[in-house]
Amino acid sequence: MSEAAAQPVRRHGLNVRICHWINVIAVGYLLVSGVHIFLDFPELYWGKVGFRGHPAAFRLADWGISWEQAGAWGDRRWGRNYHFTFAWVFVLNGLVYVAWSLARRHFRRRMLPGRDPAPAVGGAPTPRYRTAQGISYLTMIFVVTPLMFLTGIAQMPAFTAIAPWLIDLFGGRQTARTIHVILTAIFVLFALVHVGQVIATGFLRNVRSMITGRAPLPQE
Ligand code: HEM
Repeated sequence: MSEAAAQPVRRHGLNVRICHWINVIAVGYLLVSGVHIFLDFPELYWGKVGFRGHPAAFRLADWGISWEQAGAWGDRRWGRNYHFTFAWVFVLNGLVYVAWSLARRHFRRRMLPGRDPAPAVGGAPTPRYRTAQGISYLTMIFVVTPLMFLTGIAQMPAFTAIAPWLIDLFGGRQTARTIHVILTAIFVLFALVHVGQVIATGFLRNVRSMITGRAPLPQE
């Protein structure tokens, strides 16, 4: 590693670091609690109607896990408590992150491709993400997460009572639920690739930069 490349540069602002770690905790709880909820009713349907025995889009039983076994693993009460608690944390944290980042022009400077390089802050330039990485972050933030939120509240009678169009938007509560689970798989895939890249480009250095804000850049 050359002298210049080893110099720490400013990589993440305070808002990104705070919101990132809150998000890790919230999504972790949402995933585990969501799996508990799902195990309590391990079939998915399209449309407005769904019950045990109805033609299903997905049945865990087809994968060798019986309804009874899934029910024994899943704790729906625990799942719902934590899911609804951390859904608020996730959504509020996400709103703070987006508002703060828009104010600092973070998306434009670091994620949108084809823009001018980010200006130097505190002497060292803040590097831009690669195109594929920037676009995948923007897709998670502005497409997948809002859809996750909408398909989540479309399953809540308290919300659909005041906004019945939410059910029609997805063509039924069962469809909303099935899309919510498909989006969960996308979240898991994103997290696996994301953590894989963090490991591949220097785990400790990357984690350090997400805690302190500064660290040497990975080598090309
Ligand atoms: C954006 C905020 C979110 C809201 C408002 C929300 C809301 C909901 C609701 C209302 C349910 C149905 C609960 C029930 O019927 O008892 C649910 C289930 C579920 N959620 Fe979320 N959720 C959110 C985010 C997430 C995230 C980020 C993940 C995963 C990373 C996730 C994964 C799941 C899973 C796997 C289920 C089980 C599906 C089922 O069997 O009904 N959710 N969610």
